[in-house]
Amino acid sequence: MLSSLVAMGYLVEEALTAMNNCVSNLNIAGSEAQLSELTDYICAAQMVKDFDAQLRESPDEEDSTSVMTSYSYTMPRNDYLPREKKRKLHKFQQFGRKCQKGKALPLTNKWWPLWDKRTKLNCLQTVIGSAKLTERIRNALENNEKYGDETPPHVQKLVLEQCRKWNLVWVGKNKVAPLEPDEIEMLLGFPRDHTRGGGISRTDRYKALGNSFQVDTVAYHLSVLKNQFPNGINLLSLFSGIGGAEVALHRLGIPLKNVVSVEIAEVNRNIIRSWWEQTNQRGQLIEIADVQQVSIERLDQWISSFGGFDLVIGGSPCNNLAGSNRVSRNGLDGKHSSMFYHYVRILDLVKTMMGRDR
Ligand SMILES: C[S@@+](CC[C@H](N)C(=O)[O-])C[C@H]1O[C@@H](n2cnc3c(N)ncnc32)[C@H](O)[C@@H]1O
Repeated sequence: MLSSLVAMGYLVEEALTAMNNCVSNLNIAGSEAQLSELTDYICAAQMVKDFDAQLRESPDEEDSTSVMTSYSYTMPRNDYLPREKKRKLHKFQQFGRKCQKGKALPLTNKWWPLWDKRTKLNCLQTVIGSAKLTERIRNALENNEKYGDETPPHVQKLVLEQCRKWNLVWVGKNKVAPLEPDEIEMLLGFPRDHTRGGGISRTDRYKALGNSFQVDTVAYHLSVLKNQFPNGINLLSLFSGIGGAEVALHRLGIPLKNVVSVEIAEVNRNIIRSWWEQTNQRGQLIEIADVQQVSIERLDQWISSFGGFDLVIGGSPCNNLAGSNRVSRNGLDGKHSSMFYHYVRILDLVKTMMGRDR
């Protein structure tokens, strides 16, 4: 583990500190999870160190109110859409508004300082800002207050950078915090407690939610199917995660007749099954763990028994594509992201087999 971390460019000293501090998790996790846990730890420690170092530096001349550069939740412009689509989009734009922090998280308004001009959240991730970082931010803000000062521009700038990066919100005087899993669930349009309970840890919840579809956005795209399938839909859901697509179809009132849900994480399969039961679905849910098990024989059997799939949907893993992955960002050749090719393989098979059966 030490040599892997050093090969990735980390210092021996920081690698050893991380290994000492993550010892309990290291005993139970697999080697890749361990490595990612350690790099997260080192990154969090570096973040705190950088924050401290920059606080000590003299302020630079740069404007402290720099503009947020990337929002993941801005909705598409709708001026080019026909009236009917505009009406539907309007409904789903509720989401865009939901994500404006004042409306989505009204309790934070009271504590939001005037110099934090953010009105929207940034990209939701599978990991969250560390408690150490939020402690450092509080200390930095309180230290200035002691001398009766306004927060100096260079401190504001540093705090804002971290707030944007980690989606920190104001939960008290000088207190920022990462979003709670319940809040992320709500922002993503899932039913309340969708990922809660039944032995699911907070870390699992952050991971599952950070990887998930945004339900209202998917529902907007799938809303065209509502009139086409009044009697329900047969769905092949690949990389189902926590069921963003299934929840979106249900939300649209499209009955789910037969759903083949392919998802490797047991914790996610449990979440989907429990949602399926709680929402009294009348159809059939078939769970498959690995896309690699979706063979031509199995597809043939499902297609013959349901009369075909009406929709194939899925978002393959982006672990090796995403900007925040520091361990192995090797694109579609990466271990996880190469699963994308199974999506293409399965879609081609379904199209060919259904063409054959027509
Ligand atoms: C980007 S997420 C998709 C999340 C999903 N769209 C949702 O709404 O929650 C990719 C999912 O693929 C799953 N996955 C990874 N490898 C897999 C495999 N070999 N077979 C099936 N699922 C896999 C992951 O566990 C993860 O839940």
